[in-house]
Parts: sequence; C-alpha cells; structure tokens
Amino acid sequence: MHKVLLMLHKEKKEQLVDPRNSLNELTNTQWMVETKSVWFSRPPQRDKLKARHPATYAESDIVRLIEFFTKPGQEVLDPFLGSGSTLVACTQCGREGTGIELVEQWADVARERLDSSTTGPKQTILHGDSREVLPTLPDASFDFIVTSPPYWMILRKDLDHKVTAERKAKGLDTRYSDEENDLGNLESYDNFLEELGKVFVECRRVLKKKRYMCVVVSDFRHKSKFVAYHADITKIMESAGFNLEGITVLVQDSKNLYPYGIPYAFVSNIHHQYILVFRNNGTYKPTEAAPRGSQTPCA
Ligand SMILES: C[S@@+](CC[C@H](N)C(=O)[O-])C[C@H]1O[C@@H](n2cnc3c(N)ncnc32)[C@H](O)[C@@H]1O
Repeated sequence: MHKVLLMLHKEKKEQLVDPRNSLNELTNTQWMVETKSVWFSRPPQRDKLKARHPATYAESDIVRLIEFFTKPGQEVLDPFLGSGSTLVACTQCGREGTGIELVEQWADVARERLDSSTTGPKQTILHGDSREVLPTLPDASFDFIVTSPPYWMILRKDLDHKVTAERKAKGLDTRYSDEENDLGNLESYDNFLEELGKVFVECRRVLKKKRYMCVVVSDFRHKSKFVAYHADITKIMESAGFNLEGITVLVQDSKNLYPYGIPYAFVSNIHHQYILVFRNNGTYKPTEAAPRGSQTPCA
C-alpha cells in the first residue's frame, strides 16, 4: 500500500507516461487501475438508433479498452461491427477503426451513427461476411481487435425470454437477420464455433505480433442447459493461436431482474459479461493448431 501511495505521489508530480511503455498513453497508476479484474459497466441509455440492434455493447467500456491497448492514431478492428459501437468509441478516443458487418441494415445504422461526427480519425465500414472480407485485408495491419461475436442462434430460440418479449412489444428486432451467412443462424453449436474459429484465425493474421484482441461475451442458457460461452470462445481463440492473458468481469448491475425459475429451480439472472483478453504472441504455424474443421488461413 505504501508503495502505491509513493507511486501516486510521484506521478502526481510528474504525470508521465513511462518511456518504456509502447502499449498506451497511461501513467503506471492508470495502467494498474485498469488491470483490476472487475469493471462496473454504467452506460448511458442507448439512443433510438443504437437500440434498434438486439445485442450491443457500451462505448464507454470499449473506450477504456481502446485506450489501454493502443496509442492515439493506431488502428482498431471489429469483425462483427453491429450498430457500430466500436467505431463510435474509436472516434471518441482518436483512433482509426475498421468494422465488418454482414447485415446491411446494421451497417447502415453504424454509418448513420458515425455521420453525426464529421471530424476525427477515419472510420471504415466494410459490408460483408467476415470470413470473406478478412482474407482481403493485409497481414499485421491492426494494432488492436475488439469485438462481441454473435450469440449463436440464441436470439432466434429465445422466444419466451422476457427481454425478447419486451423488444417485440416495442416493435424492435430480436435477431440480427435471416441471412444464411449470419453466424447467428447456424443450427448446430459445434458448427457455429467452427465457423467462428475461421474468423479468429484471420483476426490473428491481420493483428500485429504481440498485440491484443479482446472478446466481450456473456454466457447464456439454451433450454435447460447453461452454456459457458466464454469458455468455448477461449478454446477456439487458443486453437487459433492466441494466448489468454486474463479475464475481466464486466458487471452490469443496472439490468432488470426477472423471476426466472421461481419457485422451482435456480436460474441465474446473468448480470455480467466477460472481457476475454488475448495476445498474439507470434510464432504460430496455422496448420499445427487450426480450429476443428477450419480452412487453412492465408499466410
Ligand atoms: C453481438 S453483435 C455485435 C454488436 C456490436 N458490438 C454493437 O455494439 O452494436 C454481432 C454482429 O455480428 C453480425 N454477424 C453475424 N454473422 C456475421 C458474419 N458472418 N460476418 C460479419 N458479421 C456477422 C451480426 O449481424 C451482428 O450485428
């Protein structure tokens, strides 16, 4: 504790970024605070445009990640852009961003959300299937990747879910799309993970060596089964050659509580997500560790 106080005192006097720090623009104390394994997510209410998308994350949390894992002017990628939150966050903290989104209506929402900010670094939206768009991007072209992948076909099945019912009542979409290439429409969970693995293999190729990728996910229930999605994502990221460096629990304690299971059985109200932090440590040979059934990635 004494050491921390001394660090704080020294930094207050100097407000310096450690000259050895090639990752971000944080002082050592700011760095330390961000490594706490629990974050509290307190986003403002979603605007009407963003609320049209059924599964978004909060820009405020993504700004924290971008500011930790990049320096100003560096390049960020999101292979599942959705309503454009990652690029909005990039704009807010002065980084260039590229986002890939399959569904035209979400790519349009992202465009519209970015239109309101005419100044700032360049943000690029690529409309298409990540499995096809990523192979067109050059090797080692991004400094950081952050994304929240589709939740398998859970948005399709979860018809009796209270949140889904509330969105339906408001006339809002409850799924990403009906498109065949939408990973959120694959019936088999194993097949879904396999296809997601192909995206992660490509992410590793386009990410610079020693740089980081964060995957923001929540676990979910499917019928009577609780699916530890974060654990499955970790497995396929490791198969794609990434190293798991840590997990931050993102507490979402402003969500509504619902009486699931009462009075018969324990059913969790899931009020947190996981920020899974992976690093591209370099020396991976794709043929050694490609995910089950996936194609060999471009060199
Ligand atoms: C969980 S959402 C991302 C939401 C985003 N983080 C936000 O805040 O708006 C996942 C997105 O992946 C998109 N998607 C599904 N399959 C895809 C594919 N094959 N290629 C690119 N995007 C895809 C879905 O349309 C959906 O918008």
